[in-house]
Amino acid sequence: MTPYRERREKLAQQMGAGVAVIPTAAERLRNRDSHYPFRHDSYFYYLSGFPEPEAVLVMLVTDTVKTILFCREKNTEREIWDGFRYGPDGAREAFGFDEAYPIDQLDAMLPKLLADQPNLFFDLGADPSWDTRVVGWLNSVRAEARNGVTAPGGIRDVRSLLDEMRLFKDAHEIDIMRRAAQISGGAHRRAMQAARPGRWEYEIEAELLHEFRRHGAQAPAYTSIVAGGANACVLHYVTNNDQLKDGDLLLIDAGCELDGYAADITRVFPVSGQFTPVQKDLYELVLAAQTAAMAKVKPGCHWNEPHEAALRVLVQGMIDFELCAGSVDAVIESGDYKRFYMHKTGHWLGMDVHDAGEYKRGGDWRMLQKDMVLTVEPGFYVRPSDQVPERFWNIGIRIEDDVRVTDGACEVLTQAAPKRVAEIEACMKNRN
Ligand code: GLY
Ligand code: MN
Ligand code: MN
Repeated sequence: MTPYRERREKLAQQMGAGVAVIPTAAERLRNRDSHYPFRHDSYFYYLSGFPEPEAVLVMLVTDTVKTILFCREKNTEREIWDGFRYGPDGAREAFGFDEAYPIDQLDAMLPKLLADQPNLFFDLGADPSWDTRVVGWLNSVRAEARNGVTAPGGIRDVRSLLDEMRLFKDAHEIDIMRRAAQISGGAHRRAMQAARPGRWEYEIEAELLHEFRRHGAQAPAYTSIVAGGANACVLHYVTNNDQLKDGDLLLIDAGCELDGYAADITRVFPVSGQFTPVQKDLYELVLAAQTAAMAKVKPGCHWNEPHEAALRVLVQGMIDFELCAGSVDAVIESGDYKRFYMHKTGHWLGMDVHDAGEYKRGGDWRMLQKDMVLTVEPGFYVRPSDQVPERFWNIGIRIEDDVRVTDGACEVLTQAAPKRVAEIEACMKNRN
């Protein structure tokens, strides 16, 4: 059974009874008649594996489960211009749906499918044009009330069911995520070997993209951050337009999207190929924080324990470097550390770089469980300030890996990216 069919069956069990309607993403115009590259909707793709735009998955759950795809018809003229389309018959066969129809039959068929069903499962509020369309179908069903037809009484958020499923990665997903991480780790290695004083941030970005694409990854999972020197202290720096300077660090936060799954890696290395003593001190501190966090990525720990562990190590370092004063507890309590560490230590990772899934349940951090995948990404950022000795200024460090929770120590998916100081310096020594 394909993983998609398995997921549809699992969703059906949780729905109990009713109709789920899950559209893929819309194509978006960039300007005039040029579109942004199409990216499917993650929920739709998770259940279908179907790559084309203008498609909707409908699941009708009664005593049995019927899966129906609405998609574009085959069209010789359009296929000459834009390429292959499965068409309903081809899609039904290739992707294992029970039925498939042309997308332009959706508005006619949905009121019939919704008639006398107890629940509609739909992602209400995500897209106003779909909301309007769905309300139109519901009103068509309600208009039949005098003929004894009833409309769904419950409108349920299909996302909450799917988010929980997506939080636990199945074998098919783990396999792709391992490969996405491997490709992305190789891209960081390539960037290290390409960097040198005088090159430009965008040249290094081009090396990353080259490595992603040459291994078949379809796109970057998010806009790559290639931040030399002070730019590393801008957390979402994406202009990537400055020249690299001798003596600066270069922070790269980049990962590819492979077959719908993201990798998310940050590495920091010296443009010259060798860390200065103060850069090395801060780098080793962030690495120690990451090691402490990873030790808490295991069943029995809750979501926030890796963050708490990383924070204690970072704050002890801030005190040791005389950047903060007081005890570790006092600095955490006052929040003074936020001058240097203002984000959390990770997020769920999967189809979306900040992936689906709750972080708390009933007010409590949720427990880590096998096959959840998350990032571990402590950082340390020092902006110029009167309260900080100048030797620390403009050092921005984040070390980010992707990890899977197992029964024992976490599996680090992103090992291909050099990380220890000696590894980085060795990788850069062999630059051509
Ligand atoms: N690259 C986005 C993040 O690290 O969360
Ligand atoms: Mn991240
Ligand atoms: Mn990142």
